[in-house]
Amino acid sequence: MTSTPPLGAALFGVGRIGQVHLKNMVDNARLRVQWLVDVTSQHDLMMRLIDRYRLTGEAKVLDIEDSDKVFSDPGVDVVIVCTPTPTHSDIIKKALTAGKHVMCEKPLTLTVAETKECYDLAKQNNRILFCAYNRRFDKQFYTLYQRCTRGEVGNLRVVRFTSREGGQSQEYLKHNKSRIFLDMAIHDIDYICWLVGEKPSSVCAFGSISSDNAELYKSFQDVDCVTAILNFPNGVMAQMEDTREANIGYEQRVEVLGTKGLIQTQNIRTSELHTITQNSCQSEALLQTFLDRYIDSFPTELEHFVNAVQGKEDIIVSAEGCITAMEVSEALSKSLKTGNIVKL
Ligand SMILES: NC(=O)c1ccc[n+]([C@@H]2O[C@H](COP(=O)([O-])OP(=O)(O)OC[C@H]3O[C@@H](n4cnc5c(N)ncnc54)[C@H](O)[C@@H]3O)[C@@H](O)[C@H]2O)c1
Repeated sequence: MTSTPPLGAALFGVGRIGQVHLKNMVDNARLRVQWLVDVTSQHDLMMRLIDRYRLTGEAKVLDIEDSDKVFSDPGVDVVIVCTPTPTHSDIIKKALTAGKHVMCEKPLTLTVAETKECYDLAKQNNRILFCAYNRRFDKQFYTLYQRCTRGEVGNLRVVRFTSREGGQSQEYLKHNKSRIFLDMAIHDIDYICWLVGEKPSSVCAFGSISSDNAELYKSFQDVDCVTAILNFPNGVMAQMEDTREANIGYEQRVEVLGTKGLIQTQNIRTSELHTITQNSCQSEALLQTFLDRYIDSFPTELEHFVNAVQGKEDIIVSAEGCITAMEVSEALSKSLKTGNIVKL
């Protein structure tokens, strides 16, 4: 019996999320890490990672200036993009043109137009382009999706999404150039549209800058808290709240009301301990960051990508789905700016 050789892989960007994907790439027997690409100041870190994961002699460190070596390497089958958002489009296009399959962090690019160009190129080159919306691969979120699509709560009527995090650094906001709807709420937008199964017909949004760190967001012409309503042609109404600076941990909940029932995900706590005294009942704190909360979803999404490249599954984040999320994000940003309801 012959076994399929591992796919040669290159990773662009070894920052926060890149390091999560690198560990999962190393753990995945169907991938062989060949290249780590990042700026010069990250090369020491990359060497340490190569050492930690015993990749010496297999993976090589490359500066972004020399990244063409990756695209011309016939041993590279897949490229995984974890760089700041403004750099995605260029890397995706070069990789697809060179015949590589691409998995890229969200948001795929900064605009709908660029996203469409990337998917057109993927089609022309017959390669997979996977925008890694990891929440779709979270156990609770995936099960909720399955139960809703099986009709267990009847026809969907209202979806309510709450997404609160502990803030972003100045560096991150500077490098990613995407405001709250494109950078943060895009996860929720993607999930809601996937769940409802269509594109909203109209949306509206409100925002405020009300946290203790308000000046930071103001300096990037952004807000730190948004609420939005998405109206769908099939009658579903979705409500979203995204808050950057919530000093309560990483709070992520979705609730769906259908004609036959209600279904909701739960926040995950650091432990299930519950302490009771005469004067109080106390649960443990929430997990603090996306790295804790969604850690299990990342290897699952990578496995999905590898399956798709090997022809075993269809990618569940379609071109249409990714473009829809970008369109809704742009419409919500427009509504926030103008104060108007925006039709799609
Ligand atoms: N799925 C999620 O939940 C999730 C979470 C965090 C970030 N992200 C996305 O991942 C991307 C990166 O975010 P991050 O938080 O890891 O940022 P980060 O700043 O921690 O890491 C980015 C890395 O890319 C490197 N880099 C910059 N330009 C490069 C280039 N042209 N080629 C190669 N490397 C380059 C930087 O030096 C850095 O090491 C963003 O698009 C962000 O939206 C997704």
